[in-house]
Amino acid sequence: MLGLPQSDELVFFVNGRKVIERNADPEVTLLTFLLKALGLTGTKYACGRGSCGACTVMVSKCDPVSKKIRHFSIIACLVPICSLYGAAVTTVEGVGSIKTKLHPVQERIAKSHGTQCGFCTPGMVMSMYTLLRNHPQPSEEQLMEALGGNLCRCTGYRPILESGKTFCMESNGCQQKGAGECCLAQGEEDPSSLGRSSDISTELFAKDEFQPLDPTQELIFPPELLRLAENPEERTLTFHGERVTWISPGTLKDLLELKVKHPEAPLVLGNTSLGPAMKSQGHVHPILLSPARISELSMVSTTSEGLTIGAGCSLAQVKDILAERVSELPEEKTQTYRALLKHLKSLAGQQIRNMASLGGHIISRHCYSDLNPILAVGSATLNLRSAGGARQVPLSEHFLAGLASADLRPEEVLESVHIPHSQKGELVSAFRQAQCQHNAWAHVNAGMRVLLKEGTDTIEDLSIAFGGLGAATVSARQSCQQLRGSKCTPGSVLCSGSSLLWPSAHSLPRFSSNQSVQFLLTRKEREGKKLSSKDGLQYPDVSDPFLSALEDFSVTVPQGVQKYQSVDSRQPLQDPVGRPIMHLSGLKHATGEAMFCDDIPRVEKELFMALVTSTRAHAKIISIDLSKALELPGVVDVITAEDIPGTNGTEDEKLLAVDEVLCVGQIICAVAAETDVQAKRAIEEIKITYEDLEPVIVTIEDAIKHNSFLCPEKKLEQGNIEEAFEKVDQIVEGEVHVGGQEHFYMETQRVLVIPKTEDNELDIYVSTQDPAHVQKTVSSTLNIPGNRITCHVKRVGGGFGGKVGKSAVFGAIAAVGAIKTGHPVRLVLDREDDMLITGGRHPLFGKYKVGFMNNGRIKALDIECFINGGCTLDDSEQVTEFLVLKLENAYKIRNLRFRGRACRTNLPSNTAFRGYGFPQGTLVTESCITAVAAKCGLLPEKVREKNMYKTVDKTIYKQAFSPENLIRCWDECLDKSSLGSRRKQVEAFNKKNYWKKKGLAIIPMKFSVGFGATSYHQAAALVHIYTDGSVLVTHGGNELGQGIHTKMLQVASRELKIPMSYMHICETSTATVPNTIATAASIGSDVNGRAVQNACQILLKRLEPIIKKNPEGSWEDWIEAAFEQRISLSATGYFRGYKAFMDWEKGEGDPFPYYVYGAACSEVEIDCLTGAHKKIRTDIVMDACCSLNPAIDIGQVEGAFIQGMGLYTTEELKYSPEGVLYSRGPDDYKIPTITDVPEEFNVSLLPASQTPLTIYSSKGLGESGMFLGSSVFFAITDAVAAARRERDLAEDFTVKSPATPEWVRMACADRFTEMIPRDDPKTFRPWSIPIA
Ligand SMILES: Cc1cc2nc3c(=O)[nH]c(=O)nc-3n(C[C@H](O)[C@H](O)[C@H](O)COP(=O)(O)OP(=O)(O)OC[C@H]3O[C@@H](n4cnc5c(N)ncnc54)[C@H](O)[C@@H]3O)c2cc1C
Ligand code: FES
Ligand code: FES
Repeated sequence: MLGLPQSDELVFFVNGRKVIERNADPEVTLLTFLLKALGLTGTKYACGRGSCGACTVMVSKCDPVSKKIRHFSIIACLVPICSLYGAAVTTVEGVGSIKTKLHPVQERIAKSHGTQCGFCTPGMVMSMYTLLRNHPQPSEEQLMEALGGNLCRCTGYRPILESGKTFCMESNGCQQKGAGECCLAQGEEDPSSLGRSSDISTELFAKDEFQPLDPTQELIFPPELLRLAENPEERTLTFHGERVTWISPGTLKDLLELKVKHPEAPLVLGNTSLGPAMKSQGHVHPILLSPARISELSMVSTTSEGLTIGAGCSLAQVKDILAERVSELPEEKTQTYRALLKHLKSLAGQQIRNMASLGGHIISRHCYSDLNPILAVGSATLNLRSAGGARQVPLSEHFLAGLASADLRPEEVLESVHIPHSQKGELVSAFRQAQCQHNAWAHVNAGMRVLLKEGTDTIEDLSIAFGGLGAATVSARQSCQQLRGSKCTPGSVLCSGSSLLWPSAHSLPRFSSNQSVQFLLTRKEREGKKLSSKDGLQYPDVSDPFLSALEDFSVTVPQGVQKYQSVDSRQPLQDPVGRPIMHLSGLKHATGEAMFCDDIPRVEKELFMALVTSTRAHAKIISIDLSKALELPGVVDVITAEDIPGTNGTEDEKLLAVDEVLCVGQIICAVAAETDVQAKRAIEEIKITYEDLEPVIVTIEDAIKHNSFLCPEKKLEQGNIEEAFEKVDQIVEGEVHVGGQEHFYMETQRVLVIPKTEDNELDIYVSTQDPAHVQKTVSSTLNIPGNRITCHVKRVGGGFGGKVGKSAVFGAIAAVGAIKTGHPVRLVLDREDDMLITGGRHPLFGKYKVGFMNNGRIKALDIECFINGGCTLDDSEQVTEFLVLKLENAYKIRNLRFRGRACRTNLPSNTAFRGYGFPQGTLVTESCITAVAAKCGLLPEKVREKNMYKTVDKTIYKQAFSPENLIRCWDECLDKSSLGSRRKQVEAFNKKNYWKKKGLAIIPMKFSVGFGATSYHQAAALVHIYTDGSVLVTHGGNELGQGIHTKMLQVASRELKIPMSYMHICETSTATVPNTIATAASIGSDVNGRAVQNACQILLKRLEPIIKKNPEGSWEDWIEAAFEQRISLSATGYFRGYKAFMDWEKGEGDPFPYYVYGAACSEVEIDCLTGAHKKIRTDIVMDACCSLNPAIDIGQVEGAFIQGMGLYTTEELKYSPEGVLYSRGPDDYKIPTITDVPEEFNVSLLPASQTPLTIYSSKGLGESGMFLGSSVFFAITDAVAAARRERDLAEDFTVKSPATPEWVRMACADRFTEMIPRDDPKTFRPWSIPIA
């Protein structure tokens, strides 16, 4: 680079090819390099923080000491390219491709239906591939571990795991009974329950078709790198970037000298701490020292005293080293190692453990560090080195607090860590509590060590260190001192002045003090019990039920069966309808060849756009100073509202703010620059001055207080509710709070706008569910007719409702930039911005009053719901309507009143989200039923059954329907789950265990599909047949991962009677099918399928005379003849769909074309001491009628269920009282991971029945499964209720979703929760507030 000192050449290999980078910039990550420099777009960006696994690649290195080649998965978004000197990188493209040869991993993940949108798939492939490079026949546990750091928002993980299991030793049979044999093979299938057993299939893919894994076929490690490792270069390598210089010395001596010269320069090893910190703080270190080539930092040595591990060893290596020592040494010597191992299993994902070094972990001193508390109580010592010599410092409380006297000196480096063996009589324990058990930073954690006087129960020595309670790991020194010499009983440990840490717990920035304090108490209790239960130390107060405190939940590999009805044996083989056909793009997803919006290569003169958003929730914009930003290199322009040639959004929702901002995250202006880095740097330089305005309304409570609503109340009423309340035996009133949800589509919002040279034409490539809406919005924004604007959607990396409306805003802003600058403009949102700017599912606050008889019959139900709509209307009115329409769920209650209102608050607008109000609203109804059951002393399932629709009836809005399939699903689910017998087992378990409780719940579902407006029930398709016989199908639906294109080709194949291989779908485009409706509301395949069918039937009709004339002819013959005879081989199909109607005045209508029914039964176990839970089993029965593609439909049900489970259990958005969203990435916002899948997960599709309105009587299953995730929530509350009953507490506790560990713990109130000092709200301003 011009003006920079000469850099060394950076040499590494990518997919077997040598890369020589002469101007390697230390700030460039491997991900950026792959995408931008090498054009390898298979590796994906989804979070940029190391937390999602989408950018996983494999790195191979030759160990300079052992000379062995190590293959390990890493996160490309955190790896600086400069750290790759001498390494070989394998990306998904290097593993295999459709064009050359597929790798078995790629083939199997696709054919096992492990891909939906496919955005996570390359990362999954790479994690599995790396595992297989190291273990060609891994265990299922190893497979789970390898995939633990990869997130998928679509599939629910089951099919991904299934594909991986085909490589595992234990891969045969579902092994539900532990006999290694599938239960189906054990004759347990009841043929009457799901139709004739011969009709029922449990195979979604044919394993025997898979090509075998042949490890000899893998890419070899480049011989050049091998030679390099054998004769390592000792010279220092230097790479100069624009702002940062990377120096990589070859010897320890050089490193130490460099440290003297650059004492401020940090050492970079894994960059998993430094990298995210630099990104979030915008901090730049001008010099970075890389000790990666220094062998002394990788040394491991053992003595009779303990183990010394080089600071440069990765955490994965540390895990292996410790595991080896544990297997070799007696248990009493390995207490500390075992405790470390326990945490090393759950610390981050495999990729981070492969990258992160022990030294980096210790020196980072994260307050949530999992290892430092254990190392501290285990008396570890740090071996430090400097040019002046060596010295040791203890890894003490003082070191962890960063006290200068106990810390490294600037010129020192950490060479190794000595961890002594534990002694006889010593017990070391590790504890952590996180939002979910794996791949989540701990909220609080602890290491505890106790030494008992030999042969006695007297505590000789005790140390306890806690993480997460303050700015650093803290030690409970005072408590420990007090306890020395005392007897070891649970009580003694517990009562030992826990108050010591309370003040620091109160000052916690991230989590509520309650949680930390109760965790602290819990851990002390658990520690006490562990000690007491040791041989020879049995205490009378640790009776059997209390021993349930001892163990944390372990990870179990999920098993399960998926059942569906096979097609009729008479159906022609060519006809794919009803068969589990693989997703059309499955193989492309798995090889990285599937192109997403941002994979489109850079076009000439392209600019990158970055958005400037409001930092205030409600304020007047006083001034915007762009001057500094405009002066920065590469910045071409800044787009403000004044640049909009047409309309700036709507009156209610401006595209770019003018004068006033209504929420934090509202878009104010946008920078267009030559590169993304320049654009992002420039937005930091735009200075906006605000004048704060009142009121700032963040919560529903505040909105109600201020009478701040977005639209009028929606209300439905039937019967005479007041009269009914007078005649009932009992009345219960309650409240339900349901938090919001982030869509967390793996592909963030993206758009590329390319202005053409003629006639104001624009091509827009956009990740959206509604290209017609993008076209319309761009048209009105630019004041250009729609016929000049073509929107293209190839595929979308997940939408879930979040890309219906918002993508048009991004499209329009980028289009203004493109028109103003005359350049193509690309806008790709960072995960942080995506989460900040776009709203999600509406949080809900519901109040109910229910009147019922003592036998559980509900006579009157009054529900009032408020949703937090955010600052503009968006979809809030329709969500409120749907919420109210759907609140009755599956229940026939004569006297009802449902009311709903959308609150206007100063938060980003909430919008459409899978289920559209149903998952939140119906939680109120089901909570109310649970409360009735508790009051009547009945089982909730009995009350549900009693009040369910039984015969043909009318809904509250007088739409007639038959609940036959609802009852079938319910009965099947009861039967399949063996609920009756398992209830008894759960009761027996709960009697025996005080600290662990199990819970069970079965939930019925009646879900109405479709939009509420008639104009949305239409679709069109365009089918061309080319003269070679190939068919191009285009329709109005967008491929979001839900397999709509696959289903459409199945339809076309049946109609044209030719195999799917003749057909192709290229993209969805406003130029081929105009005026499309959003692909949403579960009806995409219904309506587009009918349009495709229509087009194909028109074409076939035209071909009929030709076919009749030459019945033995081939398809190609007929097409050729048709062309000769001048018969048009192109047809438009159209479907005029359902006439939706709803009269809100009268409260009557036919708003929905049909219902999907289902039922789910879940069992969980909760830990009353920590609030954690484990999902033991889920059985789902879903009414798919005649599934077009059972693999895709089961995938939708499972994916939606797991997403619903996330909504109700782990996904918690945190807002400040000022309306700032804190949770802006996968670190802070926990969507389910592979370890959250229920241990047993069975899904059955109810055998066929007829639905005249839909294509081949299939049903749309896109959304409904979401609500079934609530069965896990109700199983948790069932377990909580069991705990409360035992503790003589009232069962009518306030229901709050998600059921986080904190909520569960506090709901299982006991003597420990009593000890927590209650916060006086007047004395502090909370860090975060609930907005529902
Ligand atoms: C997605 C994600 C999830 C995570 N989850 C967890 C979790 O659940 N629990 C947990 O405990 N941690 C977690 N971590 C933190 C992780 O353990 C640390 O980031 C990691 O151990 C740091 O090691 P590193 O090699 O990457 O350090 P780097 O980022 O390379 O360096 C960190 C710091 O250490 C200094 N340093 C490094 N080596 C030396 C040395 N030899 N001598 C002197 N100074 C040195 C550097 O100067 C720098 O300041 C997570 C991190 C990520 C990114
Ligand atoms: S882990 Fe790299 S993009 Fe998410
Ligand atoms: S398929 Fe995994 S995120 Fe879409």
